[in-house]
Parts: sequence; structure tokens; C-alpha cells
Amino acid sequence: MNKDTHVLEFAQGSSDEGLPLINEAPSDDRAPKSTTSRPSAAMMGVVCFAALSGFLFGYDTSAISGVLLVMDPPLTVPQNEVFVSIALLAAAIGSPIGGSLSDRFGRRVAIGISSLLFCIGSLVLALGPDSDATGGFAVLLVGRAIVGSAIGVSSAIVPMFVAELSPPKWRGSLMGVQIAAITFGQFISYLVDVALLPAANNWRWMLGVPLVPALIQLVGVFLFVPESPLWLASHGLVADAHKVIRRIAHADFDAALADLNHSLEIRQIEPRTMRETARGLWLIRSQLLLGCALQAFQQLVGINTIMYYSSVILSQSGFGDKSHPRDAMLMSAAVAGGNALFTLVAIYLVDRVGRRKLMLYTLPGVIVALGLMSFTFFAINAAPTSAIALPTSVTSGMALGGMLLYICTFASGMGLLPWAVTGEIFPSALAGRANAVTTATNWLTNLAVSITFLTLFTAYSGAAFAGYAVIAVVAFVYFYFKLPETAGLSLSEIQLLFQDRNNSGGKTERRKEAIQ
Ligand code: BGC
Repeated sequence: MNKDTHVLEFAQGSSDEGLPLINEAPSDDRAPKSTTSRPSAAMMGVVCFAALSGFLFGYDTSAISGVLLVMDPPLTVPQNEVFVSIALLAAAIGSPIGGSLSDRFGRRVAIGISSLLFCIGSLVLALGPDSDATGGFAVLLVGRAIVGSAIGVSSAIVPMFVAELSPPKWRGSLMGVQIAAITFGQFISYLVDVALLPAANNWRWMLGVPLVPALIQLVGVFLFVPESPLWLASHGLVADAHKVIRRIAHADFDAALADLNHSLEIRQIEPRTMRETARGLWLIRSQLLLGCALQAFQQLVGINTIMYYSSVILSQSGFGDKSHPRDAMLMSAAVAGGNALFTLVAIYLVDRVGRRKLMLYTLPGVIVALGLMSFTFFAINAAPTSAIALPTSVTSGMALGGMLLYICTFASGMGLLPWAVTGEIFPSALAGRANAVTTATNWLTNLAVSITFLTLFTAYSGAAFAGYAVIAVVAFVYFYFKLPETAGLSLSEIQLLFQDRNNSGGKTERRKEAIQ
């Protein structure tokens, strides 16, 4: 591989204090915009291979509900809880590791490692001992932890990998392919669960299915998926970066090259020590805070109470019969199907309407839906004589309506935007580590909400949803003031936008302009 001395000069530069210079842009010339009407087929192919991680993320986090219903011998309640949450915890630990690996060794290597982990974890779960064999449950936990760490690694890397190779005009939609794959994976997992529910030992198949997409991705990473051109160039491998751009950008070659060169003007040094990393992250603190807020709010508005427990919520509202697991799984499949469908709406709108508007237009729907669900359970629990006591047919209809409104509006904005925005706002040399922090925030808040929901719902009923609604209102206010518009900007322009925010007392005009 060839190294380019010009870029190496940048890479070896340092600030007056001898610290790495990150996010320091010498000029604010705008890079040429992409011109093609569609991303090339090669680029779409690469994005789809990378997005297989999203399918695995969605499948593995959801298939578990069916698995727990048919596991033989069945797990005890505490075992159930540990078996579910260990994957979320492992994802929270895996994301920082994956993020750092991807800055050091490249995005492609890190994606390859996550596919390998998915293969190993799926094999351990599918072929492992029964939970009541000596050490059997421990082996199953290890399998689940391996799968969880693979989810963590890939969720930290894939959005930024896709952002680094996409033309600005299509970046939001291309990053959305990964989110569509998550929701499609969730939908398919419920269908697979429904199909395999009748036989007790089918839980092994349920957990083994991901081996197939994981193997396909592993082979794809070896044979087809290139390294991110921005990562290559920021590591001095400019000639290789040009080759990748030539291969995947086609008609957009000139614009992609210009944006790459422009990004390289922003001096980026990969930090080598903990101190340098901490200093680097401090220099990009406004992006980091925004990224963590996006990911935390995504989870704290309660999406996974619906994704993981829709059947419990609906049956409590008087809908269906909770003693039939198949019906419950079908209900969950319908909710997950709606989620997948509206993610396509988000993909269509994210570049056309813009990130900021899409967030501010869809979040009120989430707030209304949560309010409706809260009111429904409030009415259910009211004394039959109370003025707001309603018949079961009405409460079940309200709960279903609230849930559908929630899913449509969440999937059209909040489902995609945190991943898309965190994928595009960090300078390349630090993007892995920064995404490590924001993605770990996502998984830790997911864990916190998922393990507390059933207790809160049992103890306080609809008040749980009122709590998520209040958080959604806070999120709306925060995004109104802090979320800038990044749609259509090149990655280098986005850096300039945040540079103003990070330099206290810096220029604020451009920021105001971008927020309009
Ligand atoms: C979230 C997941 C959630 C999914 C629902 C994703 O964007 O990160 O936690 O389960 O959306 O579709």
C-alpha cells in the first residue's frame, strides 16, 4: 500500500502543547456537491453487506421472546432475565471495544470481527448443552454474551462506515438501510418464532438461524467490502482511498474526491494514549453530547417496551388471549412489521426533509401516543363507577391505536435519526471512539429501560408511559435548541458546523443559519 507524504505531514502535526490536533479546519470552502441521481450499484452492494449486521442486531434482540416460550427445560424467571439482559450488557461493552478497534485497524476489519463473533455465538447457542446440564446454562450465557458483543461492535461501526463512503445527497438514506435491516430482522424473528413455536427443541434453530447471514457477511467482508476511503486517507493511504472511491463512487468520483481532500484539510491525528483520546473527545464535546443525548433519548422514550413487550401491553388492555403464545407472537410480528414499513418512510424523508425537521415533526406523535397509552391504563384501573371507566373493547382499541401511532411516528424519525446523525458528525480519526461512547449510551439506556419496564408497569401501570412521555417532551425541547441540520452537507462541512460550537466564543452565524 502506498503512503502519501502530504497526508503524513498532516498526520504528524501537533498542537502547540504537543497534543494531537483534531477538528482543526484551515478553511471553510465548501466541497463540491455530488451530482448523480442515484448511488452506484457497487455502493449499494457494499451498504447492503454492511447492513447485514443490522439484520442480525434486530433478529437476535427479538427472537429471544419466542425462545423463552419454548425452551426445554424452561428457564427460571431469574435465568430468563439474565439470559435476555446479558446480550444488552455485552453490547454496551462491545461497542467501545469495536469503536476503538475500528479507529486503529479500520472499519472493515472491525465489521469482519463482528461477523465472526455472530457466527461463533450462534453456533454456541444452537449446539450448546441444555440449560439443566452441568454448566449448561453458563455455556448458553457465554453464547448470548458473544452475540451481544457482536451487536455492540457492529452497531458502533456500521453507521459511520456507511456515512464515510456515501455521497452527501444520499447519506441519510444509505445509513437508513442498516436501520431498515434492524427492523426487518425484528419482524423476521417473530415470524420465525411463530413458525417454530410448536416444537420444544426448536429454540436451537431459532438461535441458530443468524449463522447464515453472519457467514454471508463474513465472506462478503473478505471478498467485496472495501475499507472506508476516509479512514484509509486519514491513515496516509491516499492512493488506496482513491482506488476505493473509483470503484464505488463512479459518476460521483470528482465530488467524492474533492470531499475527501477537503476532509483531509481538517487536521486529524489518531490519538494513541488515553490522555490524547480524552483530549480529542473534549475537543469534539458538542458533537459527543448531542450524540449521547440522541441515543439516550431514543431508548428513554420507551421503544423497546413496545418492541419486547407489545404482547404483554396489549393483553393487559384486554386485547387477545395471553394464554396463547402464538397469538402473542403474531401481535408482536404485526407491530414489528409496522415498524419496518415506517422505517422505509424515514429513509425516503431523511435527506429530503432533513434530520432536524424530521425529528421535530415526528416526536410530537410519539408524545401523543404515549399520552394515549398512559390514559388508557389509567382508565382501565379507574373504579368501574368512575366517570372515565371504559368498556374493554374501547380500552383495547385505544391501546392498539396508541401503540400503532407510537410505532409509525417513532420509526419515521427517532428510529433512524440517532444512528444517522451519530454516524456523520464526528471527525474520521476519532469517529470510532466517539461512536463507542454514543453507542454504549444507547445499549446502557436500553438495558435500564428493558429491565425496569415490567416492574414499573406492574406497580404503576400507565404511569410508566406518562414517564416516557415526559422524557419525550424534554427530548423535543433539547433537539429544538441543539439539533442542527446536517442533511446535504459533506462530512467536512459538518465538522466546520460543530467547530463553531466547540470553540467557545466562536462564530455562531453559520450555526444559526444551519438551524433554520
Ligand atoms: C433501536 C432499537 C430498537 C429498534 C426498533 C432501533 O433504532 O436502536 O433499540 O429496537 O430501533 O426498531
